[in-house]
Amino acid sequence: MRNMRLFLVLIVVLLIAAFTVQAQNKYIGVKMCSMCHKTDKQGKQLDIWQKSDHAKAYKTLNTPKAAEIAKAKGLTKPAVEAAECLDCHAPAYKVDAKLLDKSFDLKDGVQCEDCHNAGSAYKTILIMKDKAKAVAAGMREFKDAAAVKASCVTCHNEKSPTYKGFNFEEALGKIRHPVPKG
Ligand code: HEC
Ligand code: HEC
Ligand code: HEC
Ligand code: HEC
Repeated sequence: MRNMRLFLVLIVVLLIAAFTVQAQNKYIGVKMCSMCHKTDKQGKQLDIWQKSDHAKAYKTLNTPKAAEIAKAKGLTKPAVEAAECLDCHAPAYKVDAKLLDKSFDLKDGVQCEDCHNAGSAYKTILIMKDKAKAVAAGMREFKDAAAVKASCVTCHNEKSPTYKGFNFEEALGKIRHPVPKG
């Protein structure tokens, strides 16, 4: 009985510790992730991302078209400062500044960690090489295609002022950045 209670207390303490570690993961930014994710052998994730519209999502908010949309919506702030736009164009704007490393740049728009979660705890080579360890250290796991799609449509939906529908397979084809097999 006594042992059982001790055991339960231990479990609770471990769970709290695990959640605290994850909650404190910092955003290190696309430059840091890319140190290891730019070679041919790794699959050139940096290059693929840079050529995708996600890389320019923040800058888009500085264009005349964005200003027009913001005005039509009656926003009192410029698009690039408005939560109504940053929510999808640079979602880390709402992260506590303490959790953003110096190397993190909001101007990089929709970047690695917006989809894969803050990486300070999983970025080391020993953890990265072992998917289970990376996931335990906070890396997001996409169980299947449905989970991937669900993550896309948190932004690709009718709340986007320029939304014209979302073809998941086609869109994924444009941004996929797999590690080459073998
Ligand atoms: C020190 C080098 C290094 C850094 C820094 C690094 N990675 Fe990795 N990453 C790797 C290696 C090595 C693999 C394993 C690749 C393989 O499957 O052969 C990997 C795998 C991954 C995977 C695939 C996991 C799986 O098996 O499904 C993702 C996603 C990923 N990294 C994202 C990131 C993100 C996001 C960052 C920045 C927060 C980052 N990495 C930083 C080296 C690194
Ligand atoms: C955090 C919000 C967010 C998430 C999550 C997101 N996107 Fe995007 N995506 C955007 C924004 C914002 C743009 C427009 C950027 C611009 O033009 O400046 C965009 C543009 C695109 C484009 C280019 C425009 C087009 O429709 O052809 C593709 C392709 C795309 N995303 C695919 C995806 C896929 C696939 C996923 C899921 C794996 C995904 N996105 C997840 C915000 C997001
Ligand atoms: C719910 C997520 C979401 C919100 C909120 C959002 N956007 Fe976007 N935005 C997107 C996505 C996704 C795309 C690319 C595909 C599309 O048009 O739906 C995009 C594309 C754009 C484009 C490029 C369109 C083109 O092809 O020329 C502009 C400009 C833009 N958004 C401005 C804004 C402005 C200004 C706001 C704030 C008033 C805003 N967005 C709010 C998700 C969002
Ligand atoms: C818009 C969301 C999004 C962005 C931005 C993004 N990724 Fe991914 N990434 C994904 C998704 C979703 C998958 C899984 C795709 C699949 O299963 O086909 C993935 C897969 C990966 C993989 C594993 C590929 C494999 O073969 O298993 C690596 C490595 C990776 N991403 C690294 C990065 C790095 C580094 C960056 C930044 C330069 C980045 N990602 C930016 C959504 C994103």
